[in-house]
Amino acid sequence: MFKEYFQYKGISFPGLIYSPRALEAAHNDFQVLDDDVFNVTYQKSGTVWMLEILSLIRSDGDPSWCRTVPNWDRAPWFETVLGLGRAQRNPPPRLISSHLPVQLFAKSFFSSKAKVIYTVRNPKDVLVSLYHFAQIFRPYKDPGSLDQFLDKFLEGDVPFGSWFDHVRGWLQLRGRDNFFCISYEELQQDLRGSVERLCAFLGRRLGPAALDAVVANASFAAMRRNRMSNFSLSPAFILDVRRTPFLRKGIAGDWKNHLTAEQSARFDRVYRERMAGLGVAFPWD
Ligand code: PPS
Repeated sequence: MFKEYFQYKGISFPGLIYSPRALEAAHNDFQVLDDDVFNVTYQKSGTVWMLEILSLIRSDGDPSWCRTVPNWDRAPWFETVLGLGRAQRNPPPRLISSHLPVQLFAKSFFSSKAKVIYTVRNPKDVLVSLYHFAQIFRPYKDPGSLDQFLDKFLEGDVPFGSWFDHVRGWLQLRGRDNFFCISYEELQQDLRGSVERLCAFLGRRLGPAALDAVVANASFAAMRRNRMSNFSLSPAFILDVRRTPFLRKGIAGDWKNHLTAEQSARFDRVYRERMAGLGVAFPWD
């Protein structure tokens, strides 16, 4: 199953980590609880960063949980074969991660009071991050040249489908009081302020020292050092972080170091077409 994708309801998924059966169960059978908090993203948009922030908020800034339990157990990706069982076994209140597009998300969420935090990132940086990740994540196909991969990304011919569809789909939930959207760029610009806004959404009160601790322990440097958060515990036959670290650069705008002016313009043309009428001003627009 390595390097082969299967289709589930029109979206590509890599074998091994995902299966039609687990996706079906995540979609139709997963019982969402009212106190669940979901960390939802299109891949490479800041998932593990938000996961760390949410873990630290949950612990009032105390890093012990983050330093002793791998992130994939703290907030399992419930659509994966292993994450589904883990999410079901974790005691409430649960943190759960997901890259699912909204149409494949757990149906029971939509009649619950559970909360979704949706993190978006400049898609050019998502592309560059994913391009590097695809070279070290064994279930993914070799991305080829960046130019070839750019076309695939713009067509949505990558795992989890189109970035444009994912973002447009999830942003339909804007205005619901259990949906909160934030960008990777906002986290970069003002992590403390972002954590305060997240706390307000989650109904958590953290004092100044706890806020400082969340910010310090969710920094790129702290997460890179933390074996429970930097994926150095994953088996190399799945994820080879010796080649490129999972926490690779951690900056906004790295696309400028990789895309030519022509590639950037090609991206912009599709972006303008696909995002027309959405009515959201993103930090990178
Ligand atoms: S995944 O595989 O989809 O779950 O990846 P995801 O976590 O969504 O995205 C990985 C990128 O997020 C960056 N990252 C961070 N940036 C800044 N600060 C912190 N603390 C942080 N944690 C993770 C990570 O470095 C990846 O981006 P790139 O651009 O590749 O460095």
